Amino acid sequence: MNSRLAAVSRTLLLGLAAGSLFAAAAAAGPIEDRQEDMKKVGKAMGQLAAIAKKEAAFDAAVVKAAGETIAESVKEFKNDFPEDSKDGPPETWAKAEIWSNMDDFNKKADDAVTAAMAMAAVTEESNFMPAMGALGGSCKACHENYRRPKQ
Ligand code: HEC
Repeated sequence: MNSRLAAVSRTLLLGLAAGSLFAAAAAAGPIEDRQEDMKKVGKAMGQLAAIAKKEAAFDAAVVKAAGETIAESVKEFKNDFPEDSKDGPPETWAKAEIWSNMDDFNKKADDAVTAAMAMAAVTEESNFMPAMGALGGSCKACHENYRRPKQ
């Protein structure tokens, strides 16, 4: 192999290595992580919504598991907002206001964790709807200020 060709292939190899490193980092980045956490929150909320709409029977075990999933996922979600994750790729629906109001954003996350733990502790059907109202309100309070609606 002549030296010019060797240099070209070395450059190519380096480029490939850098490319795959970048892809690996992107796959586990904070934007994906927080969206993944919110997807878990959404799924657990779906189980609770089915009970609220009487599409599913009240089941204290389901309520406990869903409440705990929401509490844990929101706690993790909170930690995935480093300064350099305001813009993607991948596309993010997080508003820039999060970073200028981080204390308020964290407080709204903590409120949601508290409401989710209260939901997890519900064992009587008569306490379910009030807990659902508080939990749903905690999602809305944050989304209203800090999340762009998906088109
Ligand atoms: C403290 C703020 C906060 C709270 C509390 C919160 N969310 Fe979110 N949620 C966000 C933000 C910000 C995004 C957008 C994240 C992104 O795109 O980077 C989001 C995204 C989502 C998504 C879309 C996930 C995706 O990418 O497909 C769902 C579903 C969701 N939230 C459901 C909920 C539910 C249900 C609750 C209440 C139990 C809740 N959220 C509570 C801030 C919050």
